[in-house]
Amino acid sequence: MASLCRSAASLLKPRAAPAVRSAVRLCSSGARYEYILVEKRGERSNVGVIQLNRPAALNALCDGLMKEVGRALDAFEVDGDVGAIVITGSDRAFAAGADIKEMQNLNFQDCYSGNFLAHWNRVSTVTKPVIAAVNGFALGGGCELAMMCDIVYAGEKAQFGQPEILLGTIPGSGGSQRLTRAVGKSLAMEMVLTGDRINAHEAKQSGLVSKVYPVDQLVSEAVKCGEKIASNSKLVSAMAKEAVNAAFELTLAEGNRLEKRLFHATFATDDRREGMAAFVEKRKASFQDK
Ligand code: HXC
Repeated sequence: MASLCRSAASLLKPRAAPAVRSAVRLCSSGARYEYILVEKRGERSNVGVIQLNRPAALNALCDGLMKEVGRALDAFEVDGDVGAIVITGSDRAFAAGADIKEMQNLNFQDCYSGNFLAHWNRVSTVTKPVIAAVNGFALGGGCELAMMCDIVYAGEKAQFGQPEILLGTIPGSGGSQRLTRAVGKSLAMEMVLTGDRINAHEAKQSGLVSKVYPVDQLVSEAVKCGEKIASNSKLVSAMAKEAVNAAFELTLAEGNRLEKRLFHATFATDDRREGMAAFVEKRKASFQDK
């Protein structure tokens, strides 16, 4: 496998998006990736950025790419400086879906006994907040990957879709579930049953994305959001994320109970004490993540 230094150097020349040219800096960390570029951004280098970088296949999510995303997430998860993570692609494609050529010859036994796609879930189990910055195509597994993130920002030319039906299959990484929760039954059914795509503004209107930006500003706006999040207590952010995610899993009564317990738990932290003291003393809080 090519090292990040070599693959980034060759890919960064004519094809890589300007947004991550400085990713080559990570060479010094010794990280080795073939399909992604990884760097830390923000004034305090506290936002981890993963750029899917398989341009010839429109960032189709081959197994190797998803394994690398998992490894990069693992590294950011244990990096004490990182308070938020951004996942992005290129201007043309966030990701055009699972790799159809890789899947083409699989049979049921291969899928079932190998638990095909099981490890894709890593994005949704990270405790740090993850922002998807989607330019271009987010189709099939690409749309599902974006929806596994906590916040989705879109560039003006983004297109979201679940076109699996056109390939004789259905979404397999949460598309039918997360899309329905995000946009409601009618639009989700329409997208899953016809394979039709929606554009960035439709995605914003339907609640799939929270903000739309010009293509060239998208990643830096996502990083800014990440910096804002990273400036808060990482410990309490993880609790806040856990509470919001519970809304997708629990009844209202169970969710409210969990929220209350987590709220109570913040009173065991130094950061809650610091946050309230800073307010009373009319100064900026300095959180220590404990
Ligand atoms: C493998 C892909 C790919 C994919 C594009 N490519 N999408 N390869 N898997 N999902 C490759 C093409 O084969 C081509 O390579 C190159 O990328 C450029 O693509 P083109 O089709 O030439 O580009 P364009 O005409 O601009 O069309 C773009 C596109 C189209 C509309 C995005 O590529 C497309 O429809 N792609 C498939 C989208 C899709 O069905 N996604 C869902 C996949 S199933 P070559 O070498 O041929 O030139 C899925 C299941 C999820 O995601 C289940 C759980 C994860």
